[in-house]
Amino acid sequence: MKILLLSGGKSAEREVSIVSAAFVQSVLERSGHSVIPVSIDMYGQWFSENDSLLIHTGHPVWKLLRGDSVIAFDVVFPVLHGPWGEDGSVQGLCMIAGWPCAGADIMTSAVGMNKITAKELVSSRGIPVVPWKTFTVQSPPHTEDLASMRYPLFVKPARMGSSVGISRIDSPEYLGEAAEIAFRFDSLILIENGIEKAREIEVALLSESGIVSSSVTGEILPGRQWYDYTAKYSCSESKLLIPAPISEDLSKEIRSCAEECFSILGGSGFARVDFLLDRDDKYYFNELNTIPGFTDISMFPRLWDATGVSPSEVMNRILQEALRRNSPNIESSVK
Ligand SMILES: Nc1ncnc2c1ncn2[C@@H]1O[C@H](COP(=O)(O)OP(=O)(O)O)[C@@H](O)[C@H]1O
Ligand SMILES: [Mg+2]
Repeated sequence: MKILLLSGGKSAEREVSIVSAAFVQSVLERSGHSVIPVSIDMYGQWFSENDSLLIHTGHPVWKLLRGDSVIAFDVVFPVLHGPWGEDGSVQGLCMIAGWPCAGADIMTSAVGMNKITAKELVSSRGIPVVPWKTFTVQSPPHTEDLASMRYPLFVKPARMGSSVGISRIDSPEYLGEAAEIAFRFDSLILIENGIEKAREIEVALLSESGIVSSSVTGEILPGRQWYDYTAKYSCSESKLLIPAPISEDLSKEIRSCAEECFSILGGSGFARVDFLLDRDDKYYFNELNTIPGFTDISMFPRLWDATGVSPSEVMNRILQEALRRNSPNIESSVK
């Protein structure tokens, strides 16, 4: 297949996207696909080999043009982390354009990107989440708003990833600064109770023809106090343990909870669902990532590998699902 691979983008996670896209490209090429890399710059302009691209909004299918030539492809694969890529925007563009798009659809992308919506939906079905409060730039947090909460607290932009804009605060005096940092990335933020010595357990998911499958569980051992940007991308002490060293029963329970969370949030494409585990082995849904990190050392491909599904098979299954979802039969059956 010919894959239009999107990377970069306008979000603060563009650097991470570029690293993930290089790995996705190598897996796709190893699996016999041809890749047309398209980089999106910080202003949202699309480029292929330094030529800027234009979208021609024709009927019935929109065309992508480099100069006067049409770029032909079978599937768009957005490897874009964060807003303007993982949040349903590019997925919506592809849907309107009539281009098969790998990964989550608009709804799963949009609710997965928003930590508040995701937690509201998941908790409404009885799945435990860490207590949190929501604030906006128009109505920012004050110390007294957090009187019922327990420090340390985590202050997070609602729609960001890679730990960008997140602070852990141990006392109220840092609240103003932490909120200011989070508001740099989103006008909507959440503040949640921190779990001391939280263990981080993750599960990879794939949805095919409405059937969800899950990987074994993995655990992150951050090389720092928590899994911040540095611990994620430039700390050799951070480790992934696969499978997670937890009891078989707990692992089964978390895996089935991950499938349920994914389904509640629309359950399309692929995802990684992350949980926090406290000292009593009680687990809490933390977030769902619809375009999780995808490098050779990332959790998502490694979890599948440990489940007996190679990176190349994961890619093929993702691509087949994108084609299936875009097929006219499915479209016409939607009521
Ligand atoms: N409530 C919490 N208690 C303890 N640690 C947390 C909590 N929330 C987040 N963290 C830490 O912060 C990291 C990043 O937070 P997360 O919600 O996963 O945001 P991101 O989408 O940026 O990955 C987590 O991997 C974990 O190390
Ligand atoms: Mg996370």
